[in-house]
Amino acid sequence: MSSPIIEVSELVKKYGDRLAVNGVSFQVQEGEIFGLLGPNGAGKTTTLSILSTLLQPDAGKVQINGYDLAQDAERIKPLIGLVPQELALYPTLSAWDNLAFFGRIYGLRGRRLREQIDFVLELVGLRDRAGDAVETFSGGMKRRLNLAAGLIHQPRLLFLDEPTVGVDPQSRNFIFEHIERLKAAGMTILYTTHYMEEAERLCDRVAIMDEGRILALDTPQKLIGLLGGGVIHLAIPSDFISMLLPAIRALPHVQAVSPLDGRIKIETTEARSALLELIQLCHTRDVPILSLEILEPSLESVFLHLTGKHLRD
Ligand SMILES: Nc1ncnc2c1ncn2[C@@H]1O[C@H](COP(=O)(O)OP(=O)(O)OP(=O)(O)O)[C@@H](O)[C@H]1O
Ligand SMILES: [Mg+2]
Repeated sequence: MSSPIIEVSELVKKYGDRLAVNGVSFQVQEGEIFGLLGPNGAGKTTTLSILSTLLQPDAGKVQINGYDLAQDAERIKPLIGLVPQELALYPTLSAWDNLAFFGRIYGLRGRRLREQIDFVLELVGLRDRAGDAVETFSGGMKRRLNLAAGLIHQPRLLFLDEPTVGVDPQSRNFIFEHIERLKAAGMTILYTTHYMEEAERLCDRVAIMDEGRILALDTPQKLIGLLGGGVIHLAIPSDFISMLLPAIRALPHVQAVSPLDGRIKIETTEARSALLELIQLCHTRDVPILSLEILEPSLESVFLHLTGKHLRD
């Protein structure tokens, strides 16, 4: 495999006493869509801000296209298009003027600037709204313009920080299709999200982040494979737990059983069959079932499996 275009090792960032990024390492190959998946506060934006040279890390090393971030930030900047989580647009200016502003920051002038503006407006389907003030745009249109601003200087790497938040399903699909087209054109994309469906659909590989750390990193398929046949969370009154554990463990479709804060976590070879066996068992032993949750294999349930919490709390 060729050498990675992004190499991050042991990255650390503190805000006061709070460790926002706590020893994060990963590599991204050129042409890949790499996802950072994690809940609020996981450290996704902080990581992206460091990689886009907006924020200094406290420790660790970042190399982008072979340049060291600590020494060569000026060479790295033009390679990166950042589409920030918070919209960075001037509401009273037109779409065209907003893009002209961002283009000039990257040194575009004259005819080249105009061509790039037309190109990205076409790309995000906003050409007919070029002259309208951004404050008259819908949320989804603003998101699309935000994306266009990140692409104005034709970067090799695109950093997308939760680009679909607050976007209607149609604009969301539109943004997905764009991302897929950009990938097909060879762009490398770093994508943060707390929607696992997005990570599953778009990303070649995904790092699952929580509390400043990467808990797992692989292709969506392999991450989902961590769950095997699926996991069941069963809650029964606490005085029944120790009595029932050996019987659960002996069920044909059960692989492993462990207590999990008041519930029982049951790893299965096949969740649906194990579920029927469990219900039967509780019924014959007269044990009331307080709650039952099946985690079908998906990135969401992998996250729950790894952290014990839901992605979208
Ligand atoms: N400017 C700041 N000052 C102090 N603490 C901060 C600052 N920015 C982020 N943090 C803290 O750092 C941690 C990581 O935040 P970050 O914004 O990187 O998370 P995130 O994964 O992007 O979350 P979200 O999904 O909500 O965007 C959080 O605990 C947050 O409160
Ligand atoms: Mg964020």
